[in-house]
Amino acid sequence: MIWQQLVRLVQRVNTRQERPLLKLSIPLVVLAGLGLFVWGQSESKGPPLLFVPSGVDSTALRIVGFTDEERSVIRGKALFTRFCVVCHGETGDGKGPNSWLIVDMIGKTPKDFTDPEFWKWIYDAEIEQVIKFGGGSIKESVLMPAFEDMLLNRDVLNLISYLKTFQPDKGED
Ligand code: HEC
Repeated sequence: MIWQQLVRLVQRVNTRQERPLLKLSIPLVVLAGLGLFVWGQSESKGPPLLFVPSGVDSTALRIVGFTDEERSVIRGKALFTRFCVVCHGETGDGKGPNSWLIVDMIGKTPKDFTDPEFWKWIYDAEIEQVIKFGGGSIKESVLMPAFEDMLLNRDVLNLISYLKTFQPDKGED
């Protein structure tokens, strides 16, 4: 009967000679689990550089023990690192990892925020406009993307606070 055959099969698997097979299956299961874990991690690592998810809110970052202005700069830095560094570079000099593509297309790098000349002619409202609506909105290159759908208003202001830390010789006029 099939029932008895099953019982005999289970007994056979449990005899001494067959144990090594069972033991081998343990590391296999562990390995498979590890593999799944690593795969899951890489899945959650997030989208590639130029794809930007919507619904980001930097206030999810809890920052304790700083002034409002300092908090704004810290949030701005986190946002800048996430959204802008690819083109504008970590030091804000316009030489981010993707900037060579920009140079290829329009013959110049993204704006250099460490250049005093940049700050001579710009005011907050224009920076706000360019971040929200893109370079095209102020007759600059459309390669500067519009972030209106991805950033909250206050995060645009946080970004402006951070951009100002790139300005050299602040205060001297
Ligand atoms: C895909 C590349 C790219 C990304 C990402 C990018 N920018 Fe830009 N940005 C540019 C380019 C290119 C210019 C220069 C446009 C020009 O000179 O015509 C520019 C110019 C600017 C300017 C100067 C505008 C002006 O008035 O001259 C500001 C401010 C700016 N970007 C802020 C940001 C901020 C903040 C972020 C992140 C939220 C960001 N950019 C992300 C490419 C990018």
